[in-house]
Amino acid sequence: MASFPLLQVLLKCRFTRKRCGTKQPLKVLVTGAAGQVGYALIPMIARGLMLGPDQPIILHMLDIPSAAEALNGVKMELVDAALPLLKGVIATTDLVEACTGVNIAIMLGGFPRKEGMERKEVMSKNVAIYKDQASALEQCAAKNCKVLVVANPANTNALILKEFAPSIPAKNITCLTRLDHNRALGQIAERLNMHASEVKNVIIWGNHSSTQYPDINHATVITQEGEKSVREIIANDKWLSGEFITIIRQRGAAIIRARKLSSALSAASAACDHMHDWLLGTPKGTWVSMGVCSDGSYGIPPGLIYSFPVSCEKGEWSIVQGLKIDDFSRSKMEASTNELLEEKSLAYSCLS
Ligand SMILES: NC(=O)c1ccc[n+]([C@@H]2O[C@H](COP(=O)([O-])OP(=O)(O)OC[C@H]3O[C@@H](n4cnc5c(N)ncnc54)[C@H](O)[C@@H]3O)[C@@H](O)[C@H]2O)c1
Repeated sequence: MASFPLLQVLLKCRFTRKRCGTKQPLKVLVTGAAGQVGYALIPMIARGLMLGPDQPIILHMLDIPSAAEALNGVKMELVDAALPLLKGVIATTDLVEACTGVNIAIMLGGFPRKEGMERKEVMSKNVAIYKDQASALEQCAAKNCKVLVVANPANTNALILKEFAPSIPAKNITCLTRLDHNRALGQIAERLNMHASEVKNVIIWGNHSSTQYPDINHATVITQEGEKSVREIIANDKWLSGEFITIIRQRGAAIIRARKLSSALSAASAACDHMHDWLLGTPKGTWVSMGVCSDGSYGIPPGLIYSFPVSCEKGEWSIVQGLKIDDFSRSKMEASTNELLEEKSLAYSCLS
């Protein structure tokens, strides 16, 4: 062996891949992959925007049989894109095949509300979907699989998933409110004629719905004189407590009016931000908003999936503690809590 140094190096590399710069691929499940958020998200994942530019990926794409042909079209496009990080693609309508061995699950698939449908009818379809998908993930996913639910009603779908996959740690099940968070950064930046990267620490509290509370009381902007409070620099409490909140809450509807389709690019980008920051960490002194299982912080009922400010380190999120909550904020947070409790009991009534 001593006379074949190159062979020795190659063999060593085979057994110590990480040190040689080649990470093992992570298996990423995307449900509802033939839909419009899926179409925007999949190339972002495959180009390393979610898990980093040196992280190889094996994509597991799931959709329902009526979307199988479109799903196969997405797979064909992935072949055509010749993406260096993409080490394999499974396109399937089989839930077990889709969930087997996955390290990360991005849940876009769900039943949309159609005109004339009762809320309970839509909830009941989504409860059935998330109950089945929870069982499949519990039985087939990799240990410590991390889950992001995007499909609406996102908080309650995540709650059902958590209830029916009890062996997946509750800390691993989250829902997307990062789009609302990014929208708040964007609106503050536009108002101040600054860049969104110069604004930080907005918070989305509560449900990903029109009761969400976008809170700027702790947000800051970077100015030439250092960090300043957003409230101080905007100096317009009426706008901040009124129109600003409405803009963020109604932004999804405004996109539908303009595009005749719901947000896809920004939702996909926010899903990448959510997973990226969760796994790779948030910068020191900066937090982001994530829908996570409440531990009772800020008086939110334990077990509810509620959007909080979180900081992330070494693949774990933790709720930012000790923020002062004024009466205005408290009443908005409670309104969203009440809506989530009501959604929870509606979801449970669909189980019986
Ligand atoms: N949380 C957020 O910020 C946010 C933002 C944007 C969109 N959304 C939600 O994300 C979801 C996806 O949005 P979209 O615009 O891509 O919708 P879409 O209708 O274009 O795509 C949804 C896809 O899910 C598939 N699907 C339905 N039931 C399924 C099941 N049981 N298993 C697997 N796949 C299934 C459909 O066939 C379809 O391809 C919607 O629920 C939407 O409301 C949430």
